[in-house]
Amino acid sequence: MKVTIFGTGYVGLVTGACLAEVGHEVTCVDVDPGKIARLNDGIIPIYEPGLEPIVRENHEQGRLHFTTDAAAGVAFGELQFIAVGTPPDEDGSADLQYVRAVAATIAEHMEAPKIIIDKSTVPVGTGDQVREVVAETLARRGVDLAFDVVSNPEFLKEGAAVNDFMKPDRIIVGTSDPHSEAVMRELYAPFNRNHDRVIVMDLRSAELTKYAANAMLATKISFMNELANLAERLGADIEQVRLGIGSDPRIGYHFIYPGCGYGGSCFPKDVQALSRIAHSVDHEPLLLDAVEAVNRRQKHRPFEMLVAHYGRVEALAGKTFALWGLAFKPNTDDMREAPSRTLMESLWAAGAKVQAFDPEAMEETQRIYGHRDDLALVGTRDAALKGADALVICTEWKAFRAPDFALMRESLTAPVIVDGRNLYDPDRLKAEGWHYYGIGRGE
Ligand code: UGA
Repeated sequence: MKVTIFGTGYVGLVTGACLAEVGHEVTCVDVDPGKIARLNDGIIPIYEPGLEPIVRENHEQGRLHFTTDAAAGVAFGELQFIAVGTPPDEDGSADLQYVRAVAATIAEHMEAPKIIIDKSTVPVGTGDQVREVVAETLARRGVDLAFDVVSNPEFLKEGAAVNDFMKPDRIIVGTSDPHSEAVMRELYAPFNRNHDRVIVMDLRSAELTKYAANAMLATKISFMNELANLAERLGADIEQVRLGIGSDPRIGYHFIYPGCGYGGSCFPKDVQALSRIAHSVDHEPLLLDAVEAVNRRQKHRPFEMLVAHYGRVEALAGKTFALWGLAFKPNTDDMREAPSRTLMESLWAAGAKVQAFDPEAMEETQRIYGHRDDLALVGTRDAALKGADALVICTEWKAFRAPDFALMRESLTAPVIVDGRNLYDPDRLKAEGWHYYGIGRGE
């Protein structure tokens, strides 16, 4: 099948590469000529395991094209994916100007019937807006062409996106049109071999399904963080509680890890956007707002633990802190809404210095914060510890799981660890003389 994808960001590029990988012919369109030129040279703008080889191979084999020519893109596929960004407005609602612009572009150039597919995460009702934009533009051109708008949200995790696309849990298709349904089933048939993963529903339910999934996951995390804070005051260990409740299959072990808050480009944005959507239809989203508030508070926990350790915030001035993990989660260089940022900014405001290491996100950190005297980005995990007063862990990279604690003690000026991801055994470290602070694990 011939498929066009507007937007070569994270979602668009993964979608395009994976559809080409199973044999479809794909044209990716982007307004950024530099990005298209780099993609044509095989240079991938994002860090995503497994993506580069499939982009390169499918490009070389002529199944994956990159262009800035929107008219050619519209002419290419019967299927036209919209996978452009929906950045949050100042008020937290999704900004749909790029989605609407692509819809208008498709309608401006189309000469044959098209199925237009929203892949971006968009507020409920956006599909109907896209339909209106296309209908108006076609009417202005005086042409009468059939089209349908379908919602097909993505459920990719950064760091595992290629695998998530190739082996989906579910493929949500929001349409009430039998032809669109048949075409979408054919498109996804290669990903659907063992059992049928396509779930067809109406457009608005599909749009809401995307937000519902992320909001549910964010709720699980905030719930666990709330309980962790409670466990700490009650002298209980949240890690024991986690195992105790996870064993109930109705609760499950997934996504109940307490930590220093969720980050990334999805959960924070989507929880806020869903809250906005709720307010826009006169519903007060009490639970969603609490999920968001708990998360905001949780990102301050590592800093609060340091303040508690030293007794007062002024005591942090002039100290140097080793920081392991900058990215919002392992296997990505993404720093968006990362808990490490809340920590670093609080430490700097308190007059402390940061000596940080991350396996992937150091360039990104440099890009965001530039060169500053109170930030040293060092090349190894162990170098970050040299002469530092304490270690804080914000991201659970594999390489942090089994460090040499004896060496760490020699490098740090004092044996203090704030473990924002509960990587270590508190009993062992305390027995070895460490001041160990985990999330929800008592003093
Ligand atoms: C998330 C969803 O998991 C994907 O299904 C969804 O498609 C994607 O958003 C999206 O909307 O595009 P992602 O943001 O890449 O994916 O990252 P996750 O792996 O879900 O992690 C999100 C955050 O939750 C991280 O900061 C992580 O540290 C935190 N987390 C996760 C916890 O604190 N505890 C947990 O138990 C799990």
